[in-house]
Amino acid sequence: MFETLFLATILYVIAIVYFHFRYPELHWNWDDISTEKMSFPSQFIWGTATAAHQVEGNCTNNWSEFEKGTKDGGQPNIKDAQQSGIACDHWNRYPEDIKLIKTLGVSHYRFSVEWSKIEPIQGEFDQDIINHYSKMIDELLENDIKPVLTLHHFTHPLWFDKLGAFEREENVSIFVSFCKRLFKEYSSKVDYWCTINEPAVVATQGYFNGLFPPGKKDSQLSAVVLKNLLEAHIQVYHALKKMENGLHAKIGLVKNINQFDPWRRWHILDWLICNFANQFFNRCTIDFLRTGILRIRIPGLAWIYHKNMDAVNSTDFFGLNYYSHNHLKMQYSLQEPFSMQYPDKDTMTDMQYTIYGEGMYRAIQSVSALDVPIMITENGVADAEDNRRELYIRRYLYAVSKAIEDGFNITGYFYWSLMDNFEWAFGYDMKFGLYDVDYNTQERTLREGAQVFIDIVKGENFH
Ligand code: BGC
Repeated sequence: MFETLFLATILYVIAIVYFHFRYPELHWNWDDISTEKMSFPSQFIWGTATAAHQVEGNCTNNWSEFEKGTKDGGQPNIKDAQQSGIACDHWNRYPEDIKLIKTLGVSHYRFSVEWSKIEPIQGEFDQDIINHYSKMIDELLENDIKPVLTLHHFTHPLWFDKLGAFEREENVSIFVSFCKRLFKEYSSKVDYWCTINEPAVVATQGYFNGLFPPGKKDSQLSAVVLKNLLEAHIQVYHALKKMENGLHAKIGLVKNINQFDPWRRWHILDWLICNFANQFFNRCTIDFLRTGILRIRIPGLAWIYHKNMDAVNSTDFFGLNYYSHNHLKMQYSLQEPFSMQYPDKDTMTDMQYTIYGEGMYRAIQSVSALDVPIMITENGVADAEDNRRELYIRRYLYAVSKAIEDGFNITGYFYWSLMDNFEWAFGYDMKFGLYDVDYNTQERTLREGAQVFIDIVKGENFH
């Protein structure tokens, strides 16, 4: 009895020590770091980003249906029952917004097109809407801003939802047809294409914790949706590559990396839950694109084995979205197997995560396994008081600059977001914008905390 206990203790300690050193939680001593010391290659791409549903306004045939609904307990799906409505009226104000982009000194603008406006009824494309985006692309080019177009940024038409959206693999071809149509329209003017924005976020928010439409809580379905979204990316990639301008275009997947670190580094169950969360959210996608095999193995929750060798070499660049990490504490519940924890010493953003610049470096390290250029397609902070934005920008960009210095192939950085916008389940409360938006007047005002971004882009005081 005593020997067994002794042996078990020794094994436990060995496992913990192994995990501790194998998966370190990187921390730098920021007091010793001068964030003035950062430099970027001359051809580095600087940009800012938005997504159609969050800024355009009048998106009525898509995600917005969910905004009107309530959860099982009767609480609204969106904080305080807010609805996206007219949003930032970017649909009408894009010429003025392009001027704002120019003021930042950046050379690229990442935006998404709203599928539900372009194809409001299955198979019926609205030429006026297609022309609208075409005019916007022209306006960008006339202003020397290069467009980076995202084909799917969380939203799609209601008719696609009714068909079961990405729950069903047979629906993937419908999305591929839509993408081919757009590529035909715009590929002579747009070089950079993002296929799907954050498949793991769509899968987990929509199907695991029910915070996005369709508000389901079914972990196996969530894994199936992730698989189908990745399939959609692969099929879109290969279909577009075969089209005119395909070989010249740079087409990539956009993926959010969010590290899960154990709240108690001595607790084996916290390590276990983090291992599962990292596997589902981060690792399986990278491994799929690297090896052609998608493996999700979370006993009792999600199980997938899927092989498609077309996954290998299916992204010209890796679009990395990075915001922060989360500490997980295991809970004895299959519905909510963990809780999120926040160390007191860390600075919170207005979202439910902290400022963690070192995480950007870790994220770059982990996706570099794919050996394709990395483009930071999103990074930014929700900070209504505007008293942490400068710190956030300095730290995260310092991490990017250090990664470049250490030899990682990073080609660009897009700040999220150009302006405040509709932050999904949080409504308009989250202020990610370089520009503050007054939703009563639609007036945009540059935030003080954004100045450091402009200075870094211009290379002023940073070297
Ligand atoms: C999404 C954006 C969102 C941002 C901030 C990203 O996951 O792509 O649409 O606004 O995070 O939460």
